[in-house]
Amino acid sequence: MIPEGPGRPDDERAGRIDLLQRMAIRTSERARTDLLRRARTIDHTQGPWLESGGRRLLAFCSNDYLGLAQHPQLIAAFKRVADDEGVGSTAAHLVCGHRREHAMLEDAVAAWTGRERALLFSSGYMANLGVMQALLGRGDLCVQDKLNHACLLDGATLSGATLRRYPHRDATAAARQLAGEPAAAALLATDGVFSMDGDRAPLRELAALCGRDGATLMVDDAHGLGVLGPGGAGSVAEAGLSAREVPVLMATLGKALGSHGAFVAGSATLIEGLAQFARTYVYSTAMPPALAAAALAAVQLARADDWRRDKLATLIARLRAGAAQLGLPLARSDTPIQPLLLGDAAIALAAATALEARGLLVTAIRPPTVPAGQARLRITLSAAHEEEHIDRLLDALATLPQAGGRTPV
Ligand SMILES: Cc1ncc(COP(=O)(O)O)c(C=O)c1O
Repeated sequence: MIPEGPGRPDDERAGRIDLLQRMAIRTSERARTDLLRRARTIDHTQGPWLESGGRRLLAFCSNDYLGLAQHPQLIAAFKRVADDEGVGSTAAHLVCGHRREHAMLEDAVAAWTGRERALLFSSGYMANLGVMQALLGRGDLCVQDKLNHACLLDGATLSGATLRRYPHRDATAAARQLAGEPAAAALLATDGVFSMDGDRAPLRELAALCGRDGATLMVDDAHGLGVLGPGGAGSVAEAGLSAREVPVLMATLGKALGSHGAFVAGSATLIEGLAQFARTYVYSTAMPPALAAAALAAVQLARADDWRRDKLATLIARLRAGAAQLGLPLARSDTPIQPLLLGDAAIALAAATALEARGLLVTAIRPPTVPAGQARLRITLSAAHEEEHIDRLLDALATLPQAGGRTPV
């Protein structure tokens, strides 16, 4: 007889824990502690404006830092290739999914980041899993910043390597972690710009450490590419670090580049090896060629349009000056990620709800995405915002009792 599913009464089960029931208990525990997450359906977007549930909201939570997601050149490139080539790539890169548009995009991001070659992945998550699993194995050491993105941490865990995490931005502690296992092959991986905090890794110190110690440095520049460095080439370029000093550079196309997907850039040896051994590359369908064409248009705009970075800097300065005047606890950050630290998850949720009532969408970020007691509003800015949008946000933040804001007199 085919065993019945989770609807079967407990007493008929053969002493086995029901997986779905266990998960339901975990979910209700999240609801009890104000940690439940739900996707909101967005019906329409226009620049920084969203429509959801019949309401128009000014959003400060997207990662479209350069305001490229709706740029006419991206849309035209996407449509042109979709008209010519259809939608799906139909296969993995190594089968017959690798199209001219992918090759052109790989060349463009390699040139932009000053690396020999690049390899596309369908998402940043997949890129990080693929790199870690291809480079590392049991007996190896992976040293990471405690606040690295979840996919770097997951990648190390899945690789079977020993994962050691050092306190945030503490290069001395990273050195201790490496010194603890001097004989192990080692990868030190860090976000370039930390996704929930907006601050930057001490890349020069970490590169010097890896150079001394024989470890390989990997930087995930998901939030730095397009935003920092000369021509937006990212936090590694801004730190003036070469491909020898940062041999593994990963970045995403779904944030400042307003499209989707990710790449790893580095030496021909690295890229050749990843194409052999990174399972998330080998065994996954290539991104649609129209998407690669749109991303290529985004790379060209991001390189050329310094005004977008200049505008962002003006908006960031305006927000920070206003927040300082109001006594708001903004985290220390000079990037478009400007977290307002509130502590308790319920307080962060209440603050987000209060802002929404005033027509502003700012997401509350709660554990486990951030450590317990460090819930926050993750405010993000975009070149698509205007100064009056920042003023509107500041006016609303000033009324938040949760943030200790003082309504200006
Ligand atoms: C630092 C960092 N790395 C990787 C990712 C994953 O990228 P993707 O959204 O393309 O999977 C993210 C994003 O969400 C991120 O913030």
